[in-house]
Amino acid sequence: MCGIVGYVGYRDVCPVLVDGLKRLAYRGYDSTGIAIIEDEKLLTIKRKGKIAELIEELDGREIKSTVGIAHTRWATHGEPSDTNAHPQTDCTGKIAVVHNGIIENYRALRKFLESKGHKFTTKTDTEVIAHLIEEMLGVSGDFEEAFRSALLELEGTYGLGVIFENQPDRIYAARHGSPLLIGAGENENIIASDATAVVRYTDRVIYLDEGEYAILEKNNFVIKNLQRKKIKHDIVTIDYSIQELEKGGFPHFMLKEIYEQPQTLRDAFRGRLNIDEGTARLNGLKPYHDLLSNADRIVITACGTSWHSALIGEYLIEELARIPVETEYASEFRYRSPILTEKTPVIVISQSGETADTLAALRETKIHGAKAFGIVNVVGSTIARETDAGVYIHAGPEIGVASTKAFTSQVMVLSLLAIMLGRMRGLPAEKGKKLISELATIPDKVEKIFEREKATHNIEKIAEQMKSHQNALYLGRSYNFPVALEGALKLKEISYIHAEGYPSAEMKHGPIALIDENMPVLFLATDDPLYQKIISNIEEVRSRGGKVIAIATEGNDDIKQLAEYVIYVPKTEYIFTPLLSAAPLQLLAYYIAVLRGCDVDQPRNLAKSVTVE
Ligand code: G6P
Repeated sequence: MCGIVGYVGYRDVCPVLVDGLKRLAYRGYDSTGIAIIEDEKLLTIKRKGKIAELIEELDGREIKSTVGIAHTRWATHGEPSDTNAHPQTDCTGKIAVVHNGIIENYRALRKFLESKGHKFTTKTDTEVIAHLIEEMLGVSGDFEEAFRSALLELEGTYGLGVIFENQPDRIYAARHGSPLLIGAGENENIIASDATAVVRYTDRVIYLDEGEYAILEKNNFVIKNLQRKKIKHDIVTIDYSIQELEKGGFPHFMLKEIYEQPQTLRDAFRGRLNIDEGTARLNGLKPYHDLLSNADRIVITACGTSWHSALIGEYLIEELARIPVETEYASEFRYRSPILTEKTPVIVISQSGETADTLAALRETKIHGAKAFGIVNVVGSTIARETDAGVYIHAGPEIGVASTKAFTSQVMVLSLLAIMLGRMRGLPAEKGKKLISELATIPDKVEKIFEREKATHNIEKIAEQMKSHQNALYLGRSYNFPVALEGALKLKEISYIHAEGYPSAEMKHGPIALIDENMPVLFLATDDPLYQKIISNIEEVRSRGGKVIAIATEGNDDIKQLAEYVIYVPKTEYIFTPLLSAAPLQLLAYYIAVLRGCDVDQPRNLAKSVTVE
């Protein structure tokens, strides 16, 4: 969703801002804009559409400035347009504002400001902020005080970057509910929604906390709370390099990230496998071992792809540790008045660590006095910081909007957690050893899937067959049911083909009515205790003319009699099947989307980090 970058330093500001916008583009956006101060004059340039439109607009202009703010907008209030794009300005055109989040009381504020004579030019909630600061400046005459007083009036969420023509060496920033960090460089300081936009200039970042604002100059910055008290934060070092934010020779980030999985899976278990004792080491959770192993019930909450890994976590923990687990959509959980006791730990899963609904679910958990544990990718993200403890998945930056490597790394961490809890609650050591040893082999097995694909182009050929269909059904049982959901989600997210995931036995209660020769049905038919039952479902589809594509375990030749196309995955413990069956479905969705000419990394209407409700 919206992205903010702001710079004050010694460099030419436009290239820095444009580079920052490109880094933030992965979050999803529909318009862009920048504001800079040149010769003590504020200049704002905004364009609907891609960053290329803005670059074209900037082309040939000789802008001399070393301070500015910029924004990628994902429309919430007012359609995507040049006017509604940020930065937004006040009546005098001296104050420019970029904003992430939603100002919930903007109507009341706008009415008040209009009654004071302010003239509005857009339909955005953000414009009220610029006018409000202008109004407050009229009262106090001091810009910092005007900025602070305006913040006190805002309800809703914001990450803000503001510049003021009369203070050409400064950026103001604030955070309430939408992420914002400061990159602390040498003779330069940067603000950004996430670290991808600053890593090129510095690896030292400071995360603003809720209700804090900052004033940045070239050589220093100060952070204060809304009561004007100065705040000191630790500097965090970013642990990835600029190379990890490049495509590295791949045509799309999504393909690169799919192929990274053997490595990211290794990174997810590195230092965490205790083969001798048949358990996992998750050091962050150590202080809470008793709480977790004596839980009366565990709730796992998440959104999107992370919700699918949560569902796999439910199956794993219930099977290995025999603790009842409930998986909840975060957006539902937060409003459902959940029943939580001190003995109900809540696990919050989020790649970005910023998803608004998931964050709200986490805060709801805290209100109920329960402990919350994070399974998060982005280090220092809000969810990572607000949970009581947690486990990082260490998947590295995930740029493709459709989550791939983060999903399998989440499942890997959940597998470790389930084994660890299982061992605390009576899972035999021998069983634990067998499972941990098997997990260690998973990255090589995923590699094997990719090697076979590189040699045969099998999945690519299936994509060719599926690309013109309007619908698809993904069916699986047990551990493969959440994978069916995830496979269908991947397809609809990036190729815009309507796809449904179902537990295969449920097919006869509805989806079977859809089956004919135009309906490709993808079955997850790997070796597991329910394999024979899946075969019966395949027969049901075949007898109605449906086209069957099967994901099956290597060595299963019989399935070729039943399925038009087969994608093989290596054999593993059936509970770890999702770690292998996910990758072919990611590749299938990817190839279909490419063949349909879709924007794979930035699918329409979607955002990587959904920071509004
Ligand atoms: C968005 C993304 C999905 C992601 C979901 C949850 O919808 O497009 O890929 O699964 O948010 O995100 P999170 O960062 O909380 O895992």
